[in-house]
Amino acid sequence: MGAQPLIDTAKALMAEGKGLLAMDESMGTISSRFEKEGITNTVENRRAYRELIVTTPGIGDCLSGAILFDETVHQSTKDGIPFIEVLERAGVIPGIKVDEGAVDMAGFPGEKITRGLDNLRERLAEYRGMRLRFAKWRAVITIGKGIPSEGCIHANTHALARYAALCQEAGIVPIVEPEVLMEGDHDLETCFTVTQSVQRALFVQLEDQRVDLRGLILKPNMILPGLESATQASTDEVARATVLCLLGAVPQAVAGVAFLSGGQSPQMATEHLNAMHVQYGKLLPWPLTFSFSRAIQDPELHFWKGKPENVKEAQQILHNRMLLNDLARKGEYTPELEKEYV
Ligand code: 13P
Repeated sequence: MGAQPLIDTAKALMAEGKGLLAMDESMGTISSRFEKEGITNTVENRRAYRELIVTTPGIGDCLSGAILFDETVHQSTKDGIPFIEVLERAGVIPGIKVDEGAVDMAGFPGEKITRGLDNLRERLAEYRGMRLRFAKWRAVITIGKGIPSEGCIHANTHALARYAALCQEAGIVPIVEPEVLMEGDHDLETCFTVTQSVQRALFVQLEDQRVDLRGLILKPNMILPGLESATQASTDEVARATVLCLLGAVPQAVAGVAFLSGGQSPQMATEHLNAMHVQYGKLLPWPLTFSFSRAIQDPELHFWKGKPENVKEAQQILHNRMLLNDLARKGEYTPELEKEYV
C-alpha cells in the first residue's frame, strides 16, 4: 500500500477541534476501574459500558477516533449493531490497542517491557479486515533510583518502532505511546530530561525501522512533577516544559501529537492542553490534541455505577468532558466552563 491512505487517516485523526478517546482498558485495568465504582466485572457489564460510550449522542462532533480493546471490537449494541459500525456511522474512526501489556523486564529490576510483537503481523491483517484503521502500543518507562536504564529505553523504543513498521505495512496508522509514568517523587526537570531522551531514542528507532512519520501519531505524557514530588508546577510551567520537550525531540514530519492524561485529574489535563494552545499554538509544527482515557471517562463511569437508569446522564457527562477538551484543543477553554458543563 502507498503512503497516502496512511497520511490521510493520520490527518483525519488529528482533525481540527477534535481528539481521541482511549476506551481500550485491558481486562486488568477495567476490572480495577469497575471495582472502584462497585461494578461487577462481567462480559455484559463491559459490553454495556462500551455501548454507553459509543452511543453517546454527538460523539462524532467531539471525537476523531476511538481506541478499542480486542474484546470490544467483537461486541455489539443490545440491538445487534457492531460497535465498529456505530462509531463509523457517527464519523468516529475506530482503532485498536494491539500491545499485550507491560511485564517485568528480565534483568532490569523495577522496569517493564511491553509484549505483543509475536504474531502481530497476522493480528493486524485481521484488524484491518475489520475496518480498524489505526492502532496503539504503549511502552511504560518508570522514573526511580537509577532508572530508567539505557537498556529499558532501548528495548521499549525498539519494540515501538517494530510495531509501527508492521502497522504501516498493514495500512494501519500507528500511535506510538512511550509513557513516562507520573509515579514517584521526581521533579519536573527530571520528567523533562527522561521524557526527552525517550522520545529522541524513539525517533532514532523509527528511522532505523523505516517508518513514515507522516503516517504516525505520537502519544506522549505531559511534562509534570511526580505524584509524590514536594514541588508542584503551575499550568504554564507544565505547558512550557511539555512543548519545549516535544520541540527538541519530535521531527516536523510527524502527523500529530495526542496526549495521554496519565493520572491527572480531568480538569488538570484539560487546562494543560489548553495552555499549550493559548501560549504556543501558532508556533507548533504539528497539531496537538488529546487521547485521554481516565481524564475523559472517570466522571461518567463514577456516575453510571453500572445502572441502566444512569446511562443518559452519564452520556451527558461524557459528552461535556469531551467538549471541554475540544475547546482546550482550540485554546478556548476556561475553568469557569467546568460549572456550566458539569
Ligand atoms: P490515560 O489518559 O488514563 O493515561 O490513558 C491513556 C492511555 O491510552 C493509556 O494507554
